[in-house]
Amino acid sequence: MGRAFAYVILGGGVAAGYAALELVRHRNGVSPGELCIISDEAVAPYERPALSKGYLLPRGAARLPAFHTCVGANDELLTEQWYKEHGIELVLATRVISADLRRKTLLTDTGETISYKTLIVATGARALKLEEFGVGGSHAANVCYLRNLEDADKMVGVMRSCHGGSAVVIGGGYIGMECAAALVAHEIKVTMVFPGKHCMDRLFTPKIAEFYEKYYTAKGVAFIKGTAVTSLEVSDGKVTEAILRDGRRLPCDMVVVGIGARANTGLFDGQLATEKRGGIKVDARMRASDAAVYAVGDVAAFPVALFGGDLRRFEHVDCARRTARRAASAILQDPAASNGDNAKEEGFDYLPFFYSRVFALSWQFYGDNAAGDAVIHFGDFSPGPAAPRFGACWVGAGGRVGGVFLEGGTREQSESAASAVRRGATVAELAGELERRGLTFAVDP
Ligand code: FDA
Ligand code: NAD
Repeated sequence: MGRAFAYVILGGGVAAGYAALELVRHRNGVSPGELCIISDEAVAPYERPALSKGYLLPRGAARLPAFHTCVGANDELLTEQWYKEHGIELVLATRVISADLRRKTLLTDTGETISYKTLIVATGARALKLEEFGVGGSHAANVCYLRNLEDADKMVGVMRSCHGGSAVVIGGGYIGMECAAALVAHEIKVTMVFPGKHCMDRLFTPKIAEFYEKYYTAKGVAFIKGTAVTSLEVSDGKVTEAILRDGRRLPCDMVVVGIGARANTGLFDGQLATEKRGGIKVDARMRASDAAVYAVGDVAAFPVALFGGDLRRFEHVDCARRTARRAASAILQDPAASNGDNAKEEGFDYLPFFYSRVFALSWQFYGDNAAGDAVIHFGDFSPGPAAPRFGACWVGAGGRVGGVFLEGGTREQSESAASAVRRGATVAELAGELERRGLTFAVDP
């Protein structure tokens, strides 16, 4: 059995929702019956960031349908009804198990063959498992990962049953930090374990990390750094202890694992060009090495104009939204597509943007933290203020600002930071701009 569509979006996450909206809204927009979305999740696309924030709150938690796409960008709420009204076939709880790009067909785990003229790959990323690091126990009833709604529901259930107990959080990245805050809100005592020297070591400087670690410590979170969990003691299907490399044993009522993610590219192995660090290689229009295939979101490695056309892949929601819109408008061949034609060689006009919110804190980062020759910290890093305000800027060649981090920045300060990175302003210009907007650029010795 089989069905045929002009457009198929493979994957039903953030990028899928934003691509669908753009495909419908575009002046050459798709007609009813032309578009199909296939997702192995049981619900219509939603704003995944909610899972580690509002969804985990002990009171007044966010629940669907409130956070379907595209509310995260203050746009329409695309419920299942919306897809129906626009004649979009939403094939849910269905996994694509193989793809034949030569025949332009996808085979699902229900045995259906779905064919396309144009395919948008939006398969996102998967959470790395402990077993990939030689540690067993992922399937224990009280071990939680966090990638999708099913994981979030499990975590909510486990947290409720552990009130007053203790948790080991494995990993000190985004998931680790955001979940630790949620655990504290559930009055669960947290110990975080990770191999790095400090939390969020892919982005934070030691000085930024020191602030957050002190803040978390004041909330009762303990940090064990520079080591790893080498095994989990399981009894009656539940983890009772995490055992560290040095033999230390941490008794616990639950475990949360956030040890990184990998792009879901497996279906296209040998069929599409991939990037060596993971991801499907695409051009500035998000088109892959097969002209009928586009890739967007976490799975896409695209040339970034701001970085001279360097291929980059981001695992962040803003990127998923923008690359999805970009692909959709490119597919419908709008000559006035958001990026303009002149950018097609050098890359997509994209300014990387990451953010997180934990406890009463909120940070944003714009640009690149890799290229800087030096990092300048500014503002007040003391743990005292109820509403901390500080930041850092990564300085590249010619004293130009390559990346800016802001904790507690206002909307205007964030806009200034973004604009400074985008136009390659000097540090002095950024300092003046932020000072005008009320953030002292007092550089720490
Ligand atoms: P996404 O993962 O959203 O969607 C992929 C979809 O494809 C899923 O529905 C998946 O099930 C499906 N799929 C995969 N393979 C399939 C197959 N073979 N067949 C069928 N379906 C298949 N970013 C940020 O900037 N700020 C934030 O605060 C957060 N917070 C956050 C919290 C949590 C818990 C996570 C896991 C992630 C974040 N992120 C984030 C990252 C952000 O959510 C992420 O970058 C986007 O969801 C990426 O969107 P995609 O659509 O590319 O993948
Ligand atoms: P991450 O890469 O942010 O952090 C991984 C952490 O695990 C690091 O601290 C690393 O040192 C540690 N680690 C690696 N191997 C380990 C091991 N064997 N044992 C213990 N620790 C180990 O990844 P994550 O936190 O798992 O996040 C997964 C995905 O979710 C990413 O794509 C991320 O971008 C996304 N996410 C983003 C946000 C956000 O942007 N605010 C929030 C949540 C999730």
